[in-house]
Amino acid sequence: VIHPIILCGGSGTRLWPRSRAVKPKPFLPLVGNATLFEAALARCADPAVFAAPTVVTGRDHLDHVAAQSRGVAGVQIIVEPAARNTAPAIALAAARLPADAIMLVCPSDHHIGDEAAFVRAAHAAATLAADGWMVAFGIEAKSPETGFGYILQGAAIGQGGYRIERFVEKPDRARAEQFLAAGGYSWNGGIFAFRAGDYLAELGCHRPEMARLVRKSVDEGIVDGAHFHPDAKAFAAIEPDSVDYAVMENTAQAAVVAADMAWSDIGNWNALQEARARDDAGNHVTGRAELIDCSNVMVESDGPRVSVIGLHDVVVVVDGDEVLVVSAAGAQQVGKLDGAKFQ
Ligand code: GDD
Ligand code: MG
Repeated sequence: VIHPIILCGGSGTRLWPRSRAVKPKPFLPLVGNATLFEAALARCADPAVFAAPTVVTGRDHLDHVAAQSRGVAGVQIIVEPAARNTAPAIALAAARLPADAIMLVCPSDHHIGDEAAFVRAAHAAATLAADGWMVAFGIEAKSPETGFGYILQGAAIGQGGYRIERFVEKPDRARAEQFLAAGGYSWNGGIFAFRAGDYLAELGCHRPEMARLVRKSVDEGIVDGAHFHPDAKAFAAIEPDSVDYAVMENTAQAAVVAADMAWSDIGNWNALQEARARDDAGNHVTGRAELIDCSNVMVESDGPRVSVIGLHDVVVVVDGDEVLVVSAAGAQQVGKLDGAKFQ
């Protein structure tokens, strides 16, 4: 069986004003009826394939996590005393599992359109992980995004997987453009499979102090029903780092499986617009709105009626007392707004 580890951390300021500090991106029903977090749990719900999931999250998200995972049998929640990024978050889950358990690490803020393709990739990745590989999910790179990891595919290793020649986390624009032009690179989808013991061993090699402090925080942690509270003092002493920098860039065992699964990290309003069902003109409306002579316009209002005439490639969001109007080209900059920063 595969042990799903669902990570629930970050906030998603580029989806302001819908995503706010009090109700961040994973807990919103952004595509369809389920929230992104609920969808992440549902993708790993088949008991023939997956064990009960573990969610790793912070205190500030705990209420949302508990409410939205209520119906999930056997769910375990690890409550981080402080946010130290993904490398230690994953290590907490690894340290709570047997060394040979196969973990499937999943972000909680992505959309995956093709769930069957996800499960197929998970199977392939888990088979490779059982052979000692540290497996990433590769996504076809479509543009020189700087917010992703880049994976250079090497020799085939079976199961449709490949050795990773090179893993580069968040390159600058010039390098991202080089990678795209060179070909052979895919984006890292942020989903990983490995054995718990292998992950901790790699962390011990590349970030020994982090590995030691995680172990200490787990040894001195407290079990409270389905919740686990790592020791706060040991965990807070950890230097923050992501799994991508700490492990995937450094391990000699890195592998990739191609995952063609209609993936989106829903990084901004544009990406959300693309993940949603739209009419023939490319428009999408949630709430009350009237559009005339518009194309690729998305309106989302939780109250007031929004009326738009003659606009193209625009997103309008009304959330409580906040209104956002942004062009397709501007979507990436929403996080810079005072409203998003000081929410
Ligand atoms: N529990 C916990 N604690 N979860 C966290 C923490 C933390 O301290 N920090 C982040 N997360 C969660 C986020 O909620 C998200 O679900 C996932 O871990 C990934 O973190 P991000 O902060 O969103 O990472 P990123 O988007 O910058 O980069 C990662 O994802 C890209 C794909 O979306 C990397 O893996 C990239 O290489 C990858 O391309
Ligand atoms: Mg992300």
